[in-house]
Amino acid sequence: MDFGLKGKTAIVTGASQGIGRAIAHALHQEGATVMMVGQSRARLEQAARDLGPGGAPAHIQIADLSLLAEIERVVAEALRLMTHVDILVNCAARTRSGGFLTMSDADFQEAWQIKGLGYVRLVRAVAPHMIERGDGRIVNIIGSAARTPAADFIPGAMVNAALVNFTRGVSRELARHNVRINSISPGWTLTERQQRSFEMEAMAQNIPLNQALERAAMTIPLGRHVSMEEIATMTLMLVSDLTPGLTGEDIVIDGGMTPSI
Ligand SMILES: NC(=O)c1ccc[n+]([C@@H]2O[C@H](COP(=O)([O-])OP(=O)(O)OC[C@H]3O[C@@H](n4cnc5c(N)ncnc54)[C@H](OP(=O)(O)O)[C@@H]3O)[C@@H](O)[C@H]2O)c1
Repeated sequence: MDFGLKGKTAIVTGASQGIGRAIAHALHQEGATVMMVGQSRARLEQAARDLGPGGAPAHIQIADLSLLAEIERVVAEALRLMTHVDILVNCAARTRSGGFLTMSDADFQEAWQIKGLGYVRLVRAVAPHMIERGDGRIVNIIGSAARTPAADFIPGAMVNAALVNFTRGVSRELARHNVRINSISPGWTLTERQQRSFEMEAMAQNIPLNQALERAAMTIPLGRHVSMEEIATMTLMLVSDLTPGLTGEDIVIDGGMTPSI
């Protein structure tokens, strides 16, 4: 399928690993120039090297997206290096899991500062440039806990719910300028980080990794974890012109875990 993204420019946050990395790679493969943003230099450089030689340019920016000044610097750099930004994908997050009674104020604040306020600030910094050009596409990677919170993920779930609300709310103002904003809410996605936690679980239970993965997959109606690649493919769809009437929507990809109307 041709997503028509050749020559487009994109900022992808959280691009050093996991879902953000898969999205940056998919956009690059489609011929987009990508600015990959993350906090760990080593991981980000590796993710950029893994794009391989050739293709559109790829830039990296090491930044702490919990800080407004860093976000403004990233957007200024993106405009300097790429002249404009067609696409923004917000994907950076750091959220601790655990029982509610073990959660401190700092856990709630961290989840909000990096993901909640981070996404909002990036949209606010990039949208005026998109509005000026009369064209732009934004995707927020949120999470199915937005609608169906898990007991051990309250800070993350609260931030996710707020971001679905934000995406829907701001879409109405941006739509008047042909800037579309949607979100994707993944369920349990098999990222490198998730893979490591399954490895630890398998070790703790003294069972093979395959068995730990299968056991977890059995709790998902479709019997499989979501893949990073399918989130990336949906992102390509949302930032393409294949569905130009779609804005303010949250697409849940969770193997059927959280059906809702
Ligand atoms: N994986 C899942 O099952 C799942 C399910 C539902 C929703 N989600 C959501 O999908 C998004 C991606 O999740 P993931 O599992 O792929 O994440 P991940 O593998 O943990 O990667 C998180 C990314 O965010 C970056 N990051 C964290 N704090 C940052 C900061 N202060 N400044 C800049 N970058 C920062 C990390 O950068 P460095 O590592 O370079 O520091 C990394 O690139 C998140 O919003 C997550 O909540 C994931």
